Amino acid sequence: MRLECTELREFIDLVGEDRALQALSSFSVKRNPDVENFIRTNAVAYEKSDNARTYLVTNENDDILGYFSLALSVVDIPPGISKAMMKKMRGFGRYSADSVPCYLLGQLARDDNASHDDLMMRDFIDFAIEYIMAAKQYVGGRFLLIDCVDDLVELYEKHDFIKINKTGDLNQLIMFLE
Ligand SMILES: CC(C)(COP(=O)(O)OP(=O)(O)OC[C@H]1O[C@@H](n2cnc3c(N)ncnc32)[C@H](O)[C@@H]1OP(=O)(O)O)[C@@H](O)C(=O)NCCC(=O)NCCS
Repeated sequence: MRLECTELREFIDLVGEDRALQALSSFSVKRNPDVENFIRTNAVAYEKSDNARTYLVTNENDDILGYFSLALSVVDIPPGISKAMMKKMRGFGRYSADSVPCYLLGQLARDDNASHDDLMMRDFIDFAIEYIMAAKQYVGGRFLLIDCVDDLVELYEKHDFIKINKTGDLNQLIMFLE
């Protein structure tokens, strides 16, 4: 199956905001109401206010199989991490910073109507990295951050993310952009 990634902005330009909202309103993610709610009701507003960029992953029939959102963020250097990791997060010249700017993979989900065989984590990461590396080329940035529940930590670790912290129910993992 051939997957394509379309910027939400392009989709809105193509079909108009009303039809875009209508198409997104049926996106279903039973396992995660937050990510379902984001694409149904917030993604367009975040796009228009430049708070995030959302990308739709489609198949050759233009069915929307999944989406992810990218944004800017800042992560606190967690207490207790190794000096080597601290240095790697800060980079040269930022030795005393307690927090570091980064990119955020803010939301990511496959529609319940699609399966692992249609679209899997690897596909999301590959598309996201393509956009992030383009941004890095122009503005720098050392790593990509994701917050996720315990059940997804192992999956992200398989895709080169490193766990750095846990706050409440959410784990923070980062992937260095090398
Ligand atoms: C995240 C996602 C794209 C990964 O797709 P994938 O590579 O095909 O992997 P799978 O869907 O098989 O999920 C891998 C494992 O994570 C589990 N999992 C996925 N989403 C989960 C969630 N929200 N809560 C708890 N467990 C979850 C699956 O049950 C599966 O567990 P198993 O290996 O024991 O069967 C997809 O599972 C998804 O869309 N999940 C719901 C959306 C979501 O939670 N997004 C938040 C990301 S931070």
